[in-house]
Order: sequence, then C-alpha cells, then structure tokens
Amino acid sequence: MTRPGLSRRAALAAGLSLASAPAFAATPALRAASLRVLAADKGVIFGAAIEPEAVDSDFGFETLLRRQCASLAPENVMKWNALRPTRDGFDFTRADRFMAIAHDQGAQVHGHCLVWHEALPSWVEAELTPRTGRALLTDHIARVVGRYAGHIQAWDVVNEAVERNDRRPDGLRISPWFKALGPDYIAMAFHAAHAADPAATLVLSDYGLEYDDESWMVEKRGTMLALLRSLKAARVPIHALALQGHLIGGRPRAFGAGLRRFLAEVADLGLEIHITELDVDDRKISGSLDRRDGVVAEIYRTFLDTVLDEPAVTRVTTWGLSDRYTSKAGMFPRPDGQGVRPLPFDADLRPKIVVQAITDAFAVAPRRRARR
Ligand code: XIL
Repeated sequence: MTRPGLSRRAALAAGLSLASAPAFAATPALRAASLRVLAADKGVIFGAAIEPEAVDSDFGFETLLRRQCASLAPENVMKWNALRPTRDGFDFTRADRFMAIAHDQGAQVHGHCLVWHEALPSWVEAELTPRTGRALLTDHIARVVGRYAGHIQAWDVVNEAVERNDRRPDGLRISPWFKALGPDYIAMAFHAAHAADPAATLVLSDYGLEYDDESWMVEKRGTMLALLRSLKAARVPIHALALQGHLIGGRPRAFGAGLRRFLAEVADLGLEIHITELDVDDRKISGSLDRRDGVVAEIYRTFLDTVLDEPAVTRVTTWGLSDRYTSKAGMFPRPDGQGVRPLPFDADLRPKIVVQAITDAFAVAPRRRARR
C-alpha cells in the first residue's frame, strides 16, 4: 500500500522504498477541500458512483463521500441484472439500500441505467421479442422510476445507443432492444420514464464523444447530434446528454475546440450536459506514482477546463471516488501489476494531486444556474 502522507524519512524508517512513496503530500488546504462545495459555488453538482456495500463496510469511505459528494450514482445496483435476477419479480434490496445511503447523506441521486445492451440477465435476452418487448421495457421503467419518483433527480434512461460498427445510416446500435423494437425503443423509454416521474431530468448517455483527435469519436458526435435533433423534433422528453468521460492516459489530451463546439451545439438544442462516469485509465502511464498522478491530474484538468467552460454542463460525477473502490482494478489492470490510480482520492482515501486539478478547474469555471 502506498503512503502519500509520510515524509521521506518516515517512509525510509518504515522500510518503504522511496520509489513507491510519492513525494506529493496534500496540503492541509487540499485535505480540507470539498469538491461538492467548490462545484456548488459554480452551480455544478459534483458526485460519485458507488456500490452500497462499500459504504456499509467502510466508515472512512462513507465519511469521505459525505464530505465530497452532493450526488451519488448507483454503479451497478439499478441495472437489469441486479433488479431482475429472475423473470418473476424484482429484487430491490441493494437498490433500496443505495437510496437509503443517499438519503442519509443528503445527496441527490443520478440513476443508472434503465435501458442498456449490457447487464441484461439471460432470461431477458431469451424473452425479448417484438411481441413482448414494449411491455417488458415500459413495465420495467414504470416500476423502477415509479418506485423512486421524487427521490432520483436525473436518470440515465438509455445508455450507449450509438455504435458505428453496426453500420446503420442512423448510427444506432443493433442492441437486443433495437432488434425487438426498432429505433422507437429510445422514444418509448423516455416517454415511460417521464410518465413515471415528470420532474426527473432524463438523460441519454454515451461514451466515445470526448477526444478531438479520434476520427470515430468526431463522427460519433455528428451521429449523436442528429439523434438528439430527431428526438427533440419528435417531442421526446429528453433533457440532457451525458458524456461518460472514461478518459485515457498515455495519449494526447485532445479536448479542445472540437469538443467545445460539440457541447455548444448540444446546449443549443436546449439540453443540459452531464459528465457521468469520469475516471482515467492509467495503464499506459509509466514512472513513479508521483509522475503517474501528475499525468492523470493534467488529464482531469484539461478535460474539465474544456467542458466546464460550457454553462450547460451542470453535473460532474466520477466513476468511484477513491482508488480503493474502482472497477478499473478488475476490468483494466496495469500490466506491471501495480494498482490503478484512476480517481481523485488514493486507496488510503487521501486526496491526490488530481483533487488539486479538479479544484482549480472549478475555480476558473464560469458560474451557471441549473436549468431544471
Ligand atoms: C461498469 C461497472 O463499473 C462494473 O463494476 C461492472 O462490472 C460493469 O459495468 N459504462 C457504463 C457503466 O455505463 O455502467 C459501466 O460500469 C462502465 C462503462
């Protein structure tokens, strides 16, 4: 385990090698910083995705969340495989526990996610047909959104609907939902969510919209704008676009004029913009922990400077808060066997230099007012 708070002498005395003891030691001001408060000063809601079990088993983590987050997102417990393990009935145990934690912390909730091609239990794939699809989709949404109506301020209604490799002219992914219901499944889902909670901000969420130097992402922005325009033209109740924000180390930080222009075009449609799954894949970043954290921090800084310049960006959620609990550890481990460090706080719950970068980005961001 790394010990960023230790002095070099103390690290030596403790038998830790200097190579693994980062020199960055958070200042008292940084240790006292609250991202929730800094974001709120600019009209932005800052939060993190969590698993309820992490909070229930870890008082230090619970305390950190309470201090840092104005909003919590369920990393997994509101996905279909969590809520619908079998065809006969729902299991709300973990989702209810998550909601109780958010309530106890006085945090808003960004729900995730009602319709996705992943995290589907096998019985759904077998049962999802043109005949059954509509009822399956709308009943699920009515039940889940209805259960938490008034307590979930924003919902990822449809997640990852665009996939260019599926080669359709409209860019839509040929997901199980698409196969059963065609392109209309998206409008259907938004209408069902709106009926179940008319006050909730309804979000279309996707990845691969962030980088200016990646041609497929630039193309995907165009596809996304066309989709958003067609949904608006059809009076579908959609209120926000979410950029997941899974960023990547070891490549240029190409968040510039292209991204800025894309966000302005989304805002021109009258939509809010949320950053919902922010983290940095650090597999390709080498060197000391200090160097690695510095590179990750600059990625956060450049990205946030660009997106927060757009006043329609009203929410920023990181995918986890501490490196102690990050899905990157299991999904994208480092080849050198060292722990991944994708998040603002380290595995000892101490602020990394990333917190400074986020703090700076909020400090220079223009003030905004949430629109809904
Ligand atoms: C991931 C979770 O973090 C993992 O714990 C889980 O095993 C798989 O899903 N895009 C999304 C999220 O919208 O729901 C995914 O979350 C990460 C990619």
